Amino acid sequence: MKLFIVLAACLYAADATIKCVQGNTTSSTASDCTDASATKCSWPKFKEYSGFVDSTVKFACGACAGETKGSTCEECTSNSTVACNTLETGADFKCHSFTYNTSTKAFVMNANTTTCKRLKTTTISCNKPNGTATNLTYTDNGCGNCTSTHCETCTTDSCNKSNALRLVALFVPVIAILYHLF
Ligand SMILES: *[C@@H]1O[C@H](CO)[C@@H](O)[C@H](O)[C@H]1NC(C)=O
Ligand SMILES: *[C@@H]1O[C@H](CO)[C@@H](O)[C@H](O)[C@H]1NC(C)=O
Ligand SMILES: *[C@@H]1O[C@H](CO)[C@@H](O)[C@H](O)[C@H]1NC(C)=O
Ligand SMILES: *[C@@H]1O[C@H](CO)[C@@H](O)[C@H](O)[C@H]1NC(C)=O
Ligand SMILES: *[C@@H]1O[C@H](CO)[C@@H](O)[C@H](O)[C@H]1NC(C)=O
Ligand SMILES: *[C@@H]1O[C@H](CO)[C@@H](O)[C@H](O)[C@H]1NC(C)=O
Ligand SMILES: *[C@@H]1O[C@H](CO)[C@@H](O)[C@H](O)[C@H]1NC(C)=O
Ligand SMILES: *[C@@H]1O[C@H](CO)[C@@H](O)[C@H](O)[C@H]1NC(C)=O
Repeated sequence: MKLFIVLAACLYAADATIKCVQGNTTSSTASDCTDASATKCSWPKFKEYSGFVDSTVKFACGACAGETKGSTCEECTSNSTVACNTLETGADFKCHSFTYNTSTKAFVMNANTTTCKRLKTTTISCNKPNGTATNLTYTDNGCGNCTSTHCETCTTDSCNKSNALRLVALFVPVIAILYHLF
């Protein structure tokens, strides 16, 4: 009888061992958890366009530590065959960012682009202030979709030309041609 209980417990434990991705990066591999009582896997929370919220959070067996669930960490219920805590990131891309000049009351494009992060299936998105934006109505940083009102998006790497800028760029040669014609 005792042997049976021990055997049953062992079988149950073996059956209950779940798989989790374990390590520091998205390419870390999935393996059986050493803690047979674990039912959950956890992983670092990823925010679209800006990346991992806290780079010290790992892909691991077990629930999120402390009060981190939803803020810097995410968790899922796993099983013995497929680790649930997988995350695939897409290639980084770049966006221009803008600084508001409070004396001219206009946004100026910063010299350097910003690197933006995304998940594998997320499309490229950059944002920029529109023609009437101020520091109060455009508060985004270049990466991703608009969260502020006076904001426009474009969808290719390092895209930046606002409609107004593009118009200026188009009109300069046109004006030059007209000037030479007449
Ligand atoms: C994971 O990161 C920790 C420090 O945060 C480091 O000590 C450890 O070696 C890293 N593990 C791997 C597999 O890179
Ligand atoms: C484990 O989970 C995966 C994905 O959630 C599912 O496809 C698979 O059927 C599950 N396997 C078992 C044995 O429950
Ligand atoms: C704002 O624009 C003015 C006029 O072009 C310039 O002199 C000033 O340096 C700019 N301020 C900043 C913080 O870039
Ligand atoms: C926004 O710009 C105004 C001038 O247009 C300035 O007085 C104000 O301090 C700026 N606010 C911030 C948060 O930069
Ligand atoms: C812009 O990038 C260049 C080259 O990477 C670097 O030397 C420079 O310090 C950067 N400028 C700013 C304002 O970050
Ligand atoms: C900027 O966006 C705001 C809010 O959508 C809109 O009211 C305004 O007309 C836009 N300005 C330009 C120049 O597109
Ligand atoms: C960004 O906006 C586009 C177009 O509205 C949408 O298809 C996409 O899902 C959005 N991306 C995210 C991460 O919300
Ligand atoms: C973005 O703007 C800068 C400065 O106007 C220009 O040099 C660059 O070619 C532009 N990039 C794109 C993709 O339009």
